[in-house]
Amino acid sequence: MSTNNDAWGSRVGLILAMAGNAVGLGNFLRFPVQAIQNGGGAFIIPYLVCFLLMGIPLLWIEWSMGRFGGKHGHHSTPFILDSMDKRKFWKYFGVFGIFTNVAVACYYLYIESWTLSYVFESIKGTFRDKSPEWVSDFFNNYLNLEMGIGALVFFLVCLVINTFILSKGLKGVEKAAKIGVPMLLIFGVLLAIKSATLGDSGASEAYPDANAWDGFNFLWTIPSDIGSIFNFKVWLAAAGQIFFTLSVGMGTIQCYSAYLKSKDDVALNAVSAGFTNEFVEIVLGSFIVIPIAAGYLGMDWVQENASFGMAFQTMPFLFENWGPTLATFAGVFWFGLLFFAGITSSLAMGTPWMGFMQDEFNFSKNKAAITFGLVVLAFGLPTVLLYQVGAGGVVDTVVFNEYDYWAGTVSLVVFALAEAILFAWIFGMKKGWAEITSGADIKVPIIFKYIITFVTPLMLLVVFIGAFVTPLDNDWAGAWASLMSGDGWTFGNGSLVKMLTNSGLKADIAAATDPIIIEALKTKIMLTNVARGLLLALFLGLSSLVYIAYRKRQKEQQV
Ligand code: PHE
Repeated sequence: MSTNNDAWGSRVGLILAMAGNAVGLGNFLRFPVQAIQNGGGAFIIPYLVCFLLMGIPLLWIEWSMGRFGGKHGHHSTPFILDSMDKRKFWKYFGVFGIFTNVAVACYYLYIESWTLSYVFESIKGTFRDKSPEWVSDFFNNYLNLEMGIGALVFFLVCLVINTFILSKGLKGVEKAAKIGVPMLLIFGVLLAIKSATLGDSGASEAYPDANAWDGFNFLWTIPSDIGSIFNFKVWLAAAGQIFFTLSVGMGTIQCYSAYLKSKDDVALNAVSAGFTNEFVEIVLGSFIVIPIAAGYLGMDWVQENASFGMAFQTMPFLFENWGPTLATFAGVFWFGLLFFAGITSSLAMGTPWMGFMQDEFNFSKNKAAITFGLVVLAFGLPTVLLYQVGAGGVVDTVVFNEYDYWAGTVSLVVFALAEAILFAWIFGMKKGWAEITSGADIKVPIIFKYIITFVTPLMLLVVFIGAFVTPLDNDWAGAWASLMSGDGWTFGNGSLVKMLTNSGLKADIAAATDPIIIEALKTKIMLTNVARGLLLALFLGLSSLVYIAYRKRQKEQQV
């Protein structure tokens, strides 16, 4: 039986920790880029619909599952899921709730470490009087370990900080959230105010049309060509963003709420944390990078160059327009806010592993935290050491991207789908609804009972199948017509099916003539397979631990 008796100190602490869990790099780096790449205002409607019909229901499902599992002494998803049905296979679905966190932590911590190092660079005034090219190259050089090992050192420093805080248990997590969340809100609001007062004051000879308001308008005007709202790709992106930003389908929410008391509210807490995240994402997330960049470089530039690298390659240069003092503050605020957002999320990624090892193998907090650190070190080093590889212009972040795709995207949908079915259809909505509403401090609208039973699982299924069979050029109508006329479905290289067989890369090799490029592409395939091998090894390793824990429990019951 578990001797893990950690608990939250207060309701405020819990909500801040949950908000800190959700509010992360996803809100500030991923959201703006997704929104731009998927049509700005056209993205917002699917995004909000996904929030209402999948995000909120999944929050309630996960919070109540966690509290339910916690009553039985389970603090991670393998045995939380196990306690909800007598079939034995659920605990292996539960492995996703540890796996995703460890795998995401492996690259998330790396980005987090860049933000920490950029806080110092901002204080040092590294970007003063430098050209945009210089600032942008600085980032590439920083990541190129042949030119210096700063990036590796900061990664290790971040890992040690996370491990140290985790070793203090929930108290450590709660304290980090009590400091980190308010700080990031203050920094975010200050930057947003500055951005909102920029207007067209940043226009220059090179960019005469620059205007920060174009950034807001692009995000917040529903396009007249409403057709793009029906583009399935946009829906997939919107759903993916909702999962990632709310941290649903990950297992961290169940873990946090497993430490609730059985009479604690979940209904109101879940929406409070969820709406806090949405406020930060929609308001602060869209009021910083995009408008500031549009204010100096114009919206055309932003649309062409939107990527999360903008935060590091472009922002420090733009801040310099505000004079040395303000630029230093802006740099510290911006990268400090990213660091606080990052760390309160990466701590969440450590807790499922900790809960599992404490529950099942009687690990102390220290031992659980240190082993987490070591596992992340082992699986994370490849993302650091092999961050950029390539030649002849085919440079790519292969391992990093593979981790993000399989663990940070696909796994979330698989796990969310499984848990939604388990909750609504196997555990049963009658018991499920009772779990959500017991101890509730708000009246949960009854319509959500039906949404959770029918709409959420169905939408998850559609997203899942959609990702599997994404057609060529995202042309759903064309693929459908081809299927109907007997020519079969035209899978696109972005579909899960084709990704698995590396079809896109193989086609590139066939089309390439330059031997250097062919070599680079072959290396890319090799690394892709290495990354997948690592992820598979991690998943199987965790599954074995779950199996061992299960056998151990059986033996203990017999005695
Ligand atoms: N929700 C976090 C973000 O927006 C990411 C996260 C993933 C947090 C997994 C916890 C667990 O950045």
